[in-house]
Amino acid sequence: MIGLSVLPAVNASLNATTAVLLVLGYFFIRRKIVMRHKQCMLTACGTSALFLASYLYYHFHHGLTRFGGKGFVRALYFVILVSHTFLAVVILPMVAVVLFWALRGRFDKHAPIARITLPIWLYVSVTGVVVYWMLYGNLTCC
Ligand code: HEM
Repeated sequence: MIGLSVLPAVNASLNATTAVLLVLGYFFIRRKIVMRHKQCMLTACGTSALFLASYLYYHFHHGLTRFGGKGFVRALYFVILVSHTFLAVVILPMVAVVLFWALRGRFDKHAPIARITLPIWLYVSVTGVVVYWMLYGNLTCC
């Protein structure tokens, strides 16, 4: 049984893994390596789904963690947190639509919405790691 205290680090690692997979998946499709693109993107969906489950489990059992920073770093933290949370909700249906067209082989419909979804998803994954680092990395100065 995994202790609750390790879950924030697990969640940050899942976000970091998703970000790497998204960059790799983009790299592969730019080189027309469709199978590798597909594998990276489906695995990214898996790591994101695991993150969501683990995040909800953690917050259900632990509640909120307060940010201890003050001044500029506090304002920065909330700008990142609010944009991260808002866009995390926005990308859920976008990823579903991107996958829907891809798995039906309709790449003419897949590619245009995927080009918008990918950078937003990447932002959400990277800021997930940044939020963890700001909350648990003792970034309470400035
Ligand atoms: C939700 C996950 C996915 C994301 C975010 C994603 C992202 C992208 C992006 C950004 C492009 C455009 C690349 C460019 O501008 O050149 C693209 C194209 C493409 N994707 Fe995906 N993709 C995903 C899943 C898949 C899956 C599961 C397949 C299945 C085979 C796939 C197959 C393709 C193909 C064949 C293209 C080329 C389309 C064309 O140029 O006409 N993708 N994808």
